[in-house]
Amino acid sequence: MEKYLEIISNGLYSYRKGKLFIEDVDVEKLVSRFGTPLYVYSCSLIQNQIKKIRDSFKNVSPLICYSMKANSNLKILKLVHKSGCGVDIVSGGELARALKAGFKGNSIVFAGVGKTANEIVEAIKANIYFFTVESIEELKTIDKIAGNLKSKVNCCLRINLDVDVDTHHYTKTAKKETKFGLSPQQVSSVIRHQRDFKHLKLAGIQFHLGSNIKISSPYIEALKRLKTFLDDTGFKPQIIDIGGGFGIPYRIENIEPIEVFGERISDFFVKNFPSVSMVIEPGRFIVGNAGVLLTRIIYKKKTEAKKFLIVDAGMNDLIRPALYNSYHEIIPAVVYKGMNETYDIVGPICETGDFLGKERSLSANLDAGDVLAVMSAGAYGFSMSSNYNGRPRPAEIMVSGKKVIVCRKRETISDLWKHEM
Ligand code: LLP
Repeated sequence: MEKYLEIISNGLYSYRKGKLFIEDVDVEKLVSRFGTPLYVYSCSLIQNQIKKIRDSFKNVSPLICYSMKANSNLKILKLVHKSGCGVDIVSGGELARALKAGFKGNSIVFAGVGKTANEIVEAIKANIYFFTVESIEELKTIDKIAGNLKSKVNCCLRINLDVDVDTHHYTKTAKKETKFGLSPQQVSSVIRHQRDFKHLKLAGIQFHLGSNIKISSPYIEALKRLKTFLDDTGFKPQIIDIGGGFGIPYRIENIEPIEVFGERISDFFVKNFPSVSMVIEPGRFIVGNAGVLLTRIIYKKKTEAKKFLIVDAGMNDLIRPALYNSYHEIIPAVVYKGMNETYDIVGPICETGDFLGKERSLSANLDAGDVLAVMSAGAYGFSMSSNYNGRPRPAEIMVSGKKVIVCRKRETISDLWKHEM
């Protein structure tokens, strides 16, 4: 386990005398102060991840637009903003959060297949960098609204290049049967008719291949296809946005190191698109491994078939295992000596799909009251959480060295009905 912690955190997660630390804070102390379930983020790890991206793409110095759907807590957004990134948004709510966190309009890019008229108005008023446009209908709507607002807005056309990637079926977004983007034929038709869109500037092209992609080759394949397409159409984009999707290790696994990943993509980009600005939209890579979900064992249950650790975090707090069968390492806050046993680690929710990990080998001495850490939970953890089964959402904490900052208070029981009459 130490090896995994080292791989994902370069020493920011560690066991000291058998106790799990996040940066310089003892996890058990955090849970006795804030309770469980509890999301904890490492500030330094987020900063390190941003630096790694910046270094590995240094040949092109792209604008890094953090994809805030991964985790949109304001403290995290402020940290990412302070680190010099822009932001990738997909709704009016995310726009408002981005502005509240201090992002300037010109560092905001707006994607999504179903932007409403209101969302488009707000984004134009905020002077965003560009819209990523996903259909002709949307393009016409943006043009009309921009006209009404007497403005000219930047658009990047999201091209669907039919590139397959090795990830969960639900998070592949560049196959032609998905709802995303415009086909090359549609993009080429828009380019030919760009004069019809008087209030738009076709600033560039965007693609997003999918999520948790662990190698650079699909990006290079996409860029190759894009190059051929641009040569054929004669379109000269100012911006090429290659989306996000950069993978992270959820266990000890073979994944292309970011240094190699970034350099390969950058080298190809510089050679083939010399004077074009690059935008990237990583979400998971920045926050995924920087977050941990702490949970307490409520019961240790044995049936004829299995041993279960029933914990106080469930699929409402972290839905990834239930939804995508995703693997998250689960490790103890305090290491016990002795034998291990095989457990399913499950939540309290009334669904068989409510599990955090299956067939995990953990100490036979673990029992009710002990704390476990579900690792790599910083991306699509809290942001996909819900109140299902009448469960208030967890608190979120950020650790920086010895410092502990509350990012979000635990919801209370009365929060559960505060919007009901
Ligand atoms: N840009 C666009 C247009 C996207 O749709 C996404 C993610 C990203 C950037 C950021 O992707 P990332 O770098 O985080 O992989 N809930 C799923 C992931 C859904 C991703 C949706 N789009 C999960 O938990 O695995």
